[in-house]
Amino acid sequence: MMRLLAVLTAMVLFAPLAGAEPSSAVAFDVATVKLLAAADPARGEAIAKESKCAKCHGDAGVSDDPEDVNIAGMSASYIYKQLKDYQLKSRDDRDMFKKTRNLDDRQMADLAAWFASQAPAPVAADRNTDPAVLRLVFHGDPTRLLKACASCHGRDGRGGQFDHPALTGQYPEYFIYTLTEFKEEDRTNDIYSRMRHVAAALTEAEIEALAGYYGTTVPEEEE
Ligand code: HEC
Ligand code: HEC
Repeated sequence: MMRLLAVLTAMVLFAPLAGAEPSSAVAFDVATVKLLAAADPARGEAIAKESKCAKCHGDAGVSDDPEDVNIAGMSASYIYKQLKDYQLKSRDDRDMFKKTRNLDDRQMADLAAWFASQAPAPVAADRNTDPAVLRLVFHGDPTRLLKACASCHGRDGRGGQFDHPALTGQYPEYFIYTLTEFKEEDRTNDIYSRMRHVAAALTEAEIEALAGYYGTTVPEEEE
């Protein structure tokens, strides 16, 4: 009886610790890498049609509404991780939870392969190339322990390995929105808090300037 009581007391005491959620349940282990390698973009295209992803992300991952999120040309591993994070609520969004809750891992991997195979939006012709922005992108700021964006997101901003997303071709509105969410700890699905640290060190003006460097503009109407 005493032992049971001790165990129960210990459980109550350690409950807050046990409740500390990991930032994401996705790990790029052998099973996940194999799942992604076996993914089929054609199947993904069919699932995207059925699920009406185009309503918010455009037919091929580039929307004509600058308030939406472009996902074309992002790596399959990043897209897959986000879909899984929405499904498991590591990343909180009602629309995306509804869209992912009935998908299995293979369907999400297929969707990721399809959108990854599509051409990303081009960067704006008048992108912000202010020297202060370029310094943040390519050198960071050691006085703030801020690493260069390029070290994780690629020198061309087209993304790095695994969970390092492409930034080039994103709509500025979403870019600012999601960085602000990281800054305010409303988006917490970045493993090791890598983006929360970066975003916390940036000012609002710098976030806007960076959106102007990486961002795209609404595509021209096709004649
Ligand atoms: C009703 C609108 C809507 C539909 C339909 C929709 N999405 Fe989304 N999607 C969003 C919004 C809004 C976000 C950004 C939410 C946030 O802030 O986390 C998002 C985010 C994403 C992201 C993360 C992008 C990034 O850069 O991190 C991916 C990947 C994605 N959606 C894929 C899909 C796929 C695949 C489908 C179809 C199965 C789909 N979405 C359907 C609205 C939608
Ligand atoms: C140490 C590596 C690292 C550095 C340095 C870094 N990032 Fe990130 N960034 C990440 C990771 C990892 C993610 C994806 C987190 C996740 O899993 O959702 C991310 C996500 C983002 C996103 C969200 C993309 C999307 O589509 O939702 C933006 C925007 C972003 N980073 C901008 C920047 C900018 C701007 C800089 C430079 C000031 C920067 N990052 C520096 C690792 C880094």
